[in-house]
Amino acid sequence: MPLDRVTPADIPSQQQMIADSLKRSAARQQFLAYTGLKKAQLFKDYAWKTGREETLQSNAKVVEIITGIVSTMLGPKGLDKMVVKEMGGVRPTRKVTITNDSAEFLSLLEFEHPVGTLLVDVAKTVDGEVGDGVASTFVLIGALLSEALKLRRLGLHPAVIARGYEMACRQALKELEGISLEVGEGDAALLGQVATTAISGKGVASFTAKLSSLVVDLALEMRRVPRADLSNVEVYRMPGNISDTSLIRGVVIRNEMASRGMPRVIKDARIATLFTPIVFRDMERSPSYDEVVFNFTKPEEMKSYADSRYRVVSLLAEKVQRAGANVLCTRKGLDEAAVARLESLGIAAIRRISDEDVQRIASATGARVVSGVGNLTADDIGTADLVEEVWSENGNWIKFEGCKNPASISVLLKSPSEEMTFEVEHLMKNAISTIRNVLRNGRVLPGGGVTHLSLASSLRKHSANTGSREAFAVESFANALEEVPSTIARNAGLDSSKILTRLRAAHSRGPTRLGVDISTGEACDLVERGVLDPLDVVRQSLITATEFTKAILRLDQVIFTPTTREEQVRKRQQERAERGKRAEDWVEEKTV
Ligand SMILES: Nc1ncnc2c1ncn2[C@@H]1O[C@H](COP(=O)(O)OP(=O)(O)OP(=O)(O)O)[C@@H](O)[C@H]1O
Ligand SMILES: [Mg+2]
Repeated sequence: MPLDRVTPADIPSQQQMIADSLKRSAARQQFLAYTGLKKAQLFKDYAWKTGREETLQSNAKVVEIITGIVSTMLGPKGLDKMVVKEMGGVRPTRKVTITNDSAEFLSLLEFEHPVGTLLVDVAKTVDGEVGDGVASTFVLIGALLSEALKLRRLGLHPAVIARGYEMACRQALKELEGISLEVGEGDAALLGQVATTAISGKGVASFTAKLSSLVVDLALEMRRVPRADLSNVEVYRMPGNISDTSLIRGVVIRNEMASRGMPRVIKDARIATLFTPIVFRDMERSPSYDEVVFNFTKPEEMKSYADSRYRVVSLLAEKVQRAGANVLCTRKGLDEAAVARLESLGIAAIRRISDEDVQRIASATGARVVSGVGNLTADDIGTADLVEEVWSENGNWIKFEGCKNPASISVLLKSPSEEMTFEVEHLMKNAISTIRNVLRNGRVLPGGGVTHLSLASSLRKHSANTGSREAFAVESFANALEEVPSTIARNAGLDSSKILTRLRAAHSRGPTRLGVDISTGEACDLVERGVLDPLDVVRQSLITATEFTKAILRLDQVIFTPTTREEQVRKRQQERAERGKRAEDWVEEKTV
């Protein structure tokens, strides 16, 4: 049912629920207004107890509304959602998020209705397990429950429907392997198509090709790096054009060359790493070079000091060259005399690098971190194909690329705005986990709902051979599966019922990869078009949707227990105490 037609009257036990309503916050009211759900029972604190039929109807209504909201996001032409979150404070501000990612969208919402909260958990589970497929799962859940309600009206018991759904899901999972295609590490083109399918419709249309190939490179690179995980893919954000985003097989650090005269691009870099500084340490005058006290009485003394300082430090700097390095990285400082000498020797030097970064550089390049430049030998030198200083508006970076042992993978992510940077990063990480899943099990499925159409067709044949009452539910499961291609077509502005009839007929005649071409509305082979979904994503979606629907069908009562007044007082006392105000003051305030 379209949202604008949802009225309180559509929702069972409305009065009962509104009766005990607690105060609603302004933000919630506003959200209701935004979604057009004013006064719907979907949100906030009520206590109620309902009977079996009422529970099913009421939960199904909530599911219908929420899945209806998410379903418009499905597919390459799916629409975006804007979530406006009011932030507190003296001058309240608003955080506006526009997204096409269903998991992100749902994570921004707060439902008070328990089924709403469960659906948010469903999105988290699917996103956490496979990083994609949330919108399709929601479309399936909505369709499975709406089909279940039709069966209920025909008098079928919820337990029979749940059993039928379980049978159908098991059968569908068995058939997935047969429909799938094999894909391996060498199939870069196929992997690129899977990445493109995952990224399409996410608001980066002009950069889809660039991002897909980057995502595939990243996923493949991660297989070469031991213990690589999405959490240790370092993302360095910079203003710029998305098309200049690049993958770095090595290390990126936020730093700069010690002087502008030093080389900024060093090919075939030979890298020395030091824990110690290169400074003139006047041990007689002070135990620490930072605290040198000068007691010159004559100008000559000062000159001789400066000369010896330059001579000693130059000699130290030359040791870097003698060890064969053309890049020096040190944890500590560099005397200006050392900088000048290194510069004249054509050595690029980076100083005051964090401990952690020095270790990362050393392990990636194969260098050994040395204490005291005097101890530096050719054996301590590491290598990288390229060391380059990158200048940007928000700071300078040094990248070490083409390292022999890249312990981490880095991405220099360029994008025109901060908002966009986070969107693209999120999108890339999801797509990377999708490709990694594909590489793990080596199988992909025809996308665009073609797999769902094939499964629906074979389930219908299967149900025809099942003599039990569960066969009705198997048939309904098939109908629900078809809602995925149907929604993709509808979201693209096509006449979904006409297309579905044609495709259903084609699939009933035998195995085919025909689906809908979303630009023309004609039937076409979607595998040839490169629309491919990972098997894991479809499997997870089927399992989660079936399990969730079964759980809803098995519920016969919902009992909501609101927090008691004492509990509320205790909770607020605690919050006050955490904020630093004495709890007793507040109790007094409250009791006056
Ligand atoms: N060019 C295309 N033609 C037809 N279908 C496509 C095309 N590109 C992608 N799809 C299909 O769109 C569906 C994915 O859409 P979408 O990414 O919006 O939803 P989701 O993956 O289920 O949810 P989410 O990405 O929000 O977690 C998949 O079934 C995919 O095969
Ligand atoms: Mg997706």
